[in-house]
Amino acid sequence: MRKPFVAGNWKMNMDSQTGVDLAKAIADGSADLAGTDVTVAVIPPFVYLQAVGQAVSSSGVALGAQDIYFEEKGAFTGEISPAMLKDVGCTYVLCGHSERRHVLGESDEVVNKKVLASLAGGLLPILCVGELLEERDAGKTEQVVEQQVRAGLANLGAEKASAVTVAYEPVWAIGTGRTATREQAQEVHAFIRKLLAEMYDENLAAEIRILYGGSVKPDNAKELMSEPDVDGSLVGGASLKPDAFLQIIQAGV
Ligand code: PGA
Repeated sequence: MRKPFVAGNWKMNMDSQTGVDLAKAIADGSADLAGTDVTVAVIPPFVYLQAVGQAVSSSGVALGAQDIYFEEKGAFTGEISPAMLKDVGCTYVLCGHSERRHVLGESDEVVNKKVLASLAGGLLPILCVGELLEERDAGKTEQVVEQQVRAGLANLGAEKASAVTVAYEPVWAIGTGRTATREQAQEVHAFIRKLLAEMYDENLAAEIRILYGGSVKPDNAKELMSEPDVDGSLVGGASLKPDAFLQIIQAGV
């Protein structure tokens, strides 16, 4: 059975104090969940990883990074390597978040290199995929998602594929308050799982967690996560408020 997974992507928000306070509130608030079967991760900006990592270190809350660079070291000004993320205690790393693809121009090829470098560096990648509104309106959702999943996981053998989490985040639902309906989410999640079965096999596809992201809030989290192929959520805005994030975690249990 796939263990539910709720991750909070803080994006470019918080400062050192409010970040640590938020992390502590999440660590404390999720302490009652110890032993329950849910993975919780916080994903702060790079500069707060260490402080936030310390704040959650004695809890079951995992630490993730919002991005990674695929080279091991060297003259790559401004970039952060897999080993650096491991060094500050990261377990997870987002690869190909839609803001990186669409605001910062990241290609499928770069996203794939990041997925492979994460795994090689002992990190667990969360491959983010999702269509733009015009792509959905043009009936191209499956085509876009298939391309992003196939390209994102290119050259990744079956032995490592189970370490990947996929996050389906329709771009039109991110930060807009316009969530996909549970049916829309389930439809794409089932499509992704079928695709993974084609690329690997049924057993592996049944193991890989597929999270939904895009305006997940306490009042819609439960219905989304109760769909059979929705294994958790990647939460942006609502992960910045401890009560809201804790309610979403609770909804995933
Ligand atoms: P949102 O962001 O919850 O604010 O829509 C989700 C995400 O981008 O991961």
